[in-house]
Amino acid sequence: MKMWSGRFGEPLDPSFEKWQRSFDFDKRLLPYELAASGAHARALREAGILTADELIAILQGLDEIGKLASLSPEFLNDQDAEDVHHFVEKQLVALIGDVGYKLHSGRSRNEQIATDLRLYVRASIDHLLVDTASLCDAILDRAEQAGTAAMPSYTHLQRAEPVLVAHWLLAYCEMFLRDVSRLADCRMRLNVCPLGSGAVAGATLPLNRKAMATELGFDGPTANSIDSTADRDFAIEFVHALSLFALHLSRWAEEMILFSSQEYSFIQLPEAYSTGSSAMPQKRNPDLLELARGKAGRVIGDAIALQVTLKGLPLAYNKDLQETQESLFSATETMLALVPLVTGWMRNVEFNYDRMSEASQSGFMNAWAAATYLVKRGVPFRLAHEQVGKAVRLCLDKNCRLEDLALADWQALNPAFSGDIFEHLKLESVIAIHNVPGGTAASRVREALAEARQKVESIPVIRGGVHAHA
Ligand code: ARG
Repeated sequence: MKMWSGRFGEPLDPSFEKWQRSFDFDKRLLPYELAASGAHARALREAGILTADELIAILQGLDEIGKLASLSPEFLNDQDAEDVHHFVEKQLVALIGDVGYKLHSGRSRNEQIATDLRLYVRASIDHLLVDTASLCDAILDRAEQAGTAAMPSYTHLQRAEPVLVAHWLLAYCEMFLRDVSRLADCRMRLNVCPLGSGAVAGATLPLNRKAMATELGFDGPTANSIDSTADRDFAIEFVHALSLFALHLSRWAEEMILFSSQEYSFIQLPEAYSTGSSAMPQKRNPDLLELARGKAGRVIGDAIALQVTLKGLPLAYNKDLQETQESLFSATETMLALVPLVTGWMRNVEFNYDRMSEASQSGFMNAWAAATYLVKRGVPFRLAHEQVGKAVRLCLDKNCRLEDLALADWQALNPAFSGDIFEHLKLESVIAIHNVPGGTAASRVREALAEARQKVESIPVIRGGVHAHA
């Protein structure tokens, strides 16, 4: 039986009927729908609408539906179910008879879908926080292994200054830690329960909203029934946080793609995450990275789609809201699949330290250190810059490095240069002068690594009342 057929004299146009259904995609919400229905059933019992026996029958029925769904995916191939709410009602009545119809007393699908989606987003955040903590762990392990190995850093994609490989990796860890904090923040705000909001104006039965909220692991009931049935901010916030996360992964992927090209040869792609070419036998392609870069397009698109769908919707529930689900699921599932793969890639990539170190000692990346040498000896920076610039010019003419110039060449530029300049031009010295918090000096990077470890350890690993979906 449909959930609303009483007032209709004519059947629906069959293609419209099929087209307006959401069960194909909202079947993902089944575990949350069952949990929320259990909470509602207990509130109905407390309100005197269900007898104790009816409550037991309903709870057992809900439990059975959960079991059947996990035993066989076929169970979810229901051609008649309009949406996940209708599916549960149908199955419940099939299992326990007409008493199953009592479950819908005093509630509306509008509050149910709002609740299910909050539970889905919350479980997804919990899942992602765990996965992102593992990703950060992998990055930090690689940073630790890199020790004091150096590489060039770039601005404008031109060699700029040498840095520790660990310092470079920690930059990515910072980006992902910000993603973690955005997700945790979103979780905090979404964790209120719409149950008891009814269709729009509040439940018509005296339902204990606080008890329902507590049972589902929410901090409390939502404050306004109109807002709670109309609101999808939590989905928008979440998918926007995901879109930024995906954007970070795409920047990461792009850099790894560059660094794996023969032109850089800084990293060796892990075979387990690459593929070959059907035409060119020599190829090893960075597929994981390219797909990671590409997935950002999808997730950013999902974030925009959600906002555009909500734009201009009057209060409260409108069926347009059903259209938010697929973007939410697509972004969520894309990220849940991607993050662990990136972690695996990170653990398996090989860094070509020799090549990185060689690259970090060319391109005049010690020029700033030479100017700093003068600044520490009282020379105004602008003049020091000019003089070292001339030294670079001289090297270009002679086709040599700054450290190959004779002391006389340096002193001709500025008499403040003395024999110890050569010590200051060495890679280790150049790295060591960046001795500020957040800088690349080895001791600072060691500190930063320890701090990042602590931040990762304190990532909130919370499990809601309802289990995370797979
Ligand atoms: N499938 C619907 C959705 O996802 C459930 C809510 C339907 N409510 C209604 N009044 N038709 O939005």
